[in-house]
Amino acid sequence: MERLDKVISSQTNYSRKDVKELIKQKKVIVNNNIVFKSDLKVDESCDEIIVNNKKLNIKKNIYLILNKPKGYVSATKDNYDKTVLDFVPLEYKKRNIFPAGRLDKDTTGMMILTDDGVFAHDILAPKKHIKKIYKVTIDKEISDEMIKGFLDGIMLNDGICKMAKLEKISNNIGIVTLTEGRYHQIKRMFACFKANVIELERIGMGEMMLPKDLQLGDIRELTNEELQKISVKI
Ligand code: URA
Repeated sequence: MERLDKVISSQTNYSRKDVKELIKQKKVIVNNNIVFKSDLKVDESCDEIIVNNKKLNIKKNIYLILNKPKGYVSATKDNYDKTVLDFVPLEYKKRNIFPAGRLDKDTTGMMILTDDGVFAHDILAPKKHIKKIYKVTIDKEISDEMIKGFLDGIMLNDGICKMAKLEKISNNIGIVTLTEGRYHQIKRMFACFKANVIELERIGMGEMMLPKDLQLGDIRELTNEELQKISVKI
């Protein structure tokens, strides 16, 4: 059980002071009864709470998908650059939303933002084997040597990479599938073959592909079905 004013202010843009005022105006209803006290204890899992004619849809955690444009860093704060948090709508600002994983400033595509630390850990930990799929354009032809190297495991200065898949879809464009996410990993993997990454886009995680209708800079909540798809292991 939790205090009503706390529950409402954590789920809406209303401050606790606003809630007090709404209660005075008889605009807060719990289980069909007008509320008179802001410290009323409510059960978030079953009580029906109506605030200003709107039923509260209580969510323990929030899961957002962003199609990240270039120029934003995957951090909650940065002294110099814009961050992916700039895309989070106002209604979620009171939550401790953070990016689940990192994409470089110049990488675009699928980014998950959440306030659920356990979920973030689960989709990122290499042991969990969740696929991260990227479309990559490099400055030379994708060779059989690269494809074999990715599969065998490339040695980087922070250790050998897990088996990765590189599929050639045209001369210099490929699809890379990783199950880990090290700093600049794909760029460093191609650098082993003296190739530079020109464009990098994350197009999928687990079994969930970046939705076609999600334009660069668009952000929305994930559906339950999509959430399940992200967590599918290899
Ligand atoms: N690998 C990279 O080099 N950069 C990214 O943003 C993601 C994977």
